[in-house]
Formats: sequence, C-alpha cells, structure tokens
Amino acid sequence: MTDDNAPPDIDWSQYFVLPPQEVTLPDIDPKGGWILDVGGGGEGIIGLLKGQEVVAIDMRKDELEETTNDALKVVMDARELKFIDESFTVATVYFTFMYMPEDDFEAIFKEIWRVLKPGGELFIWDAIFEVPPEEREKKRFVVILKTLFPDGSENQTGYGGIVRDPQPDMFLRPAQKVGFKILDQKVDDFQFYVRLGKP
Ligand SMILES: C[S@@+](CC[C@H](N)C(=O)[O-])C[C@H]1O[C@@H](n2cnc3c(N)ncnc32)[C@H](O)[C@@H]1O
Repeated sequence: MTDDNAPPDIDWSQYFVLPPQEVTLPDIDPKGGWILDVGGGGEGIIGLLKGQEVVAIDMRKDELEETTNDALKVVMDARELKFIDESFTVATVYFTFMYMPEDDFEAIFKEIWRVLKPGGELFIWDAIFEVPPEEREKKRFVVILKTLFPDGSENQTGYGGIVRDPQPDMFLRPAQKVGFKILDQKVDDFQFYVRLGKP
C-alpha cells in the first residue's frame, strides 16, 4: 500500500541542517492598534499568537491560504506596502528575512518604518549561523523550529532558506540606517531576536 500524502523523500545531504531551535514568544501588546506581520504566510505564527489583531501580508497567495489563523490576510510585496503612513503600532518579521534577498532589506525596513506610528515597535526573529567550510557547497539550509506560545501551546515546523552567512549586523545595519533604535536583543549560536523602536 502506498501513502499518497507522504512527503517526497528529501535528500538531506543537499542541505545544511541547523540544530533544532526553540523560540518562546512574548505576548505582544499592540496597545489598541494593529500588528503588521510581514511574510505572514506558511504557519502564520504571529497570526496564531494574536489572531484578529494581525494583518498578515505575503507576496504569495498560496502561502497565506495555507495558514489556519484568524489574521486578515493580504497579498502584498513588503518592498512596496500599500498602507498609508503610520497605520500600525507593531510590526513583526518571523523567520521571513531568511527567505528574502539581502539587497531588499533596506527597502523593507524603510517601508515598515513608514507604516509604523511613532512609538511603534518592530520585532524580528531569524536564523543566524556560520556555514562550516565542509558545508559550503550546499545551496540551501533548513531549521526545525519549535515555537512556544504564552498559553502553553506549541507549533513545530521546518523553515528553509538560501545558504549565506547571516549575522545580526545583516539586519541591524539597514534597520538603524532607516532610523530604528534597538530596544532589546538576544543573540545565540543559531537564532537572532531583536525588538526595535521607531522613536
Ligand atoms: C514561509 S514564511 C516564513 C514563516 C512565516 N512568517 C510563519 O509564521 O510561518 C516566508 C514568507 O515570506 C514571503 N516573502 C518573501 N519575500 C517577500 C516580499 N518581498 N514581500 C512579501 N512576502 C515575501 C514568502 O512568500 C513566504 O511565504
């Protein structure tokens, strides 16, 4: 008997595989405003966390359709947001920059800055790592990530991206260039979290 729903066999030798990671999410408070989740398709973690307080944008409709949360979902390119200035109190980018070319980061930070209200905050979580020399020929990486929600529930999934050497500065440099200030950050061997403020 065959199982038609079984995932295709993956040739893991083609991937640089990070050690399994865990993120404990804070209970983000949008203070009566909206949360913009950039790249909010896939699992739609921020929509699972904050439901109808979230506007999730993603350039892929199928990725938004895959989510099971109560966020408002809009097909949109983060490099050219269609919201007017100062629409949101909070923005989030959850393991999404890893899917984006580094050349687009500054334009995306500029757009997030524009649509955040003064006093608004931007939360980013992403993978960071250094590719060891023996893994350099691999074109893609994968991370198995467990997300722990404040209510005790959890989500486990895999995210994959293009192999490069992402380090905190890759996010912080363009963010600070457009004016964001660092409010809080946590860096460990394989993941990066930062809370940025628009003064
Ligand atoms: C798979 S998701 C990352 C995880 C997701 N945040 C979650 O909670 O599961 C990354 C998404 O970023 C989207 N994306 C990539 N570049 C984008 C862009 N310029 N504008 C909007 N979405 C983009 C991709 O279509 C993809 O769905």
